[in-house]
Amino acid sequence: MSKLTTLHEFIVSKQKDFPFATGELSRLLNDIALASKIVSNDVRKAGLVDHILGAQGGQNVQGEEQQKLDVVADEAFIRAFKNGGEVCGIASEENDDFLAFESEQAQNANYVILFDPLDGSSNIDVNVSIGTIFSIYRRVSPQGTKATLADMLQPGTQQVAAGYVLYGSSTLLVYTTGKGVNGFTLDPSIGEYFLSHPDMKMPENGRLYSVNEGNLNDFDPQLRAYLAYCQSNENQTGKPYSGRYIGSLVADFHRNLIKGGIYIYPTVPSAPNGRLRLLYECNPLAFIAEQAGGLATDGQRRILDIQPTELHQRVGFYIGSKLMVEKAMGLH
Ligand code: AHG
Ligand code: MN
Ligand code: MN
Repeated sequence: MSKLTTLHEFIVSKQKDFPFATGELSRLLNDIALASKIVSNDVRKAGLVDHILGAQGGQNVQGEEQQKLDVVADEAFIRAFKNGGEVCGIASEENDDFLAFESEQAQNANYVILFDPLDGSSNIDVNVSIGTIFSIYRRVSPQGTKATLADMLQPGTQQVAAGYVLYGSSTLLVYTTGKGVNGFTLDPSIGEYFLSHPDMKMPENGRLYSVNEGNLNDFDPQLRAYLAYCQSNENQTGKPYSGRYIGSLVADFHRNLIKGGIYIYPTVPSAPNGRLRLLYECNPLAFIAEQAGGLATDGQRRILDIQPTELHQRVGFYIGSKLMVEKAMGLH
């Protein structure tokens, strides 16, 4: 049997890809891994522990304040980043504003991290896969000062690293630093991630399409024509494609990354700017998709080229296998 590679060994072995690396990014990736193990543990107990499942703001039987798992996850990651001292600030889908950390070590740190602590959280109550998505940038404000909004509002092309953790049948961490995509599966018995999906590539074409078809009547004619093509015998495979929609972006994306497919959440009248968030969901997954040979657009523009103007900005999202995204864009 060949030797197993732990996430930590892998991160250390890749540090030499960056000649001036100080080890900060490596330590930050380890902080993410640590927090994800804590959250994975909480996710696996959902339903058992009263305070984890209840609605935010309610009380459990002991009269304690209930916390939603989104908030538990948000706090676990923020704690790991604060204690780790590798980022000067964070922005999270769960918080209205970004946080600039106060400590001297944090103010001297070079990175910021933006994240969706729990994606697909409406699926928790029904035992379906959920995840965490993250995006790392080098700060643009001077070192030794507090993080600013400008550090957070950078286009996706500036990402230094991005990834996600999928709390599925097993817990899997997938990330890129711009030199390919690698996936690591958590062995829960010893709390260690092992390299299980080296150098992930998204098939150039696929047969899976993932879209909330309940919104079909609101889609524009081009998208409706594309979906009709997917459902017809006139497509490249001569039989209808298969529809697959979990409703957890991170899980839908992961399946399509491995099997080949397209995920679409367009702009619709009920969500005129789209539903998904550019900074916490679309940019990190777009970076991974491109690194794996796929594509991501908002329907017109490359996701990574969009200059963000606000923290919780939403965009239309088309992501997946290269030929499928191009076809949906009307390029073939
Ligand atoms: P979140 O749980 O972080 O708010 O994200 C939910 C997102 C995404 O995961 C999913 O693909 C999409 O919302 C589902 O939206 P619809 O229910 O409108 O299909
Ligand atoms: Mn989300
Ligand atoms: Mn979320």
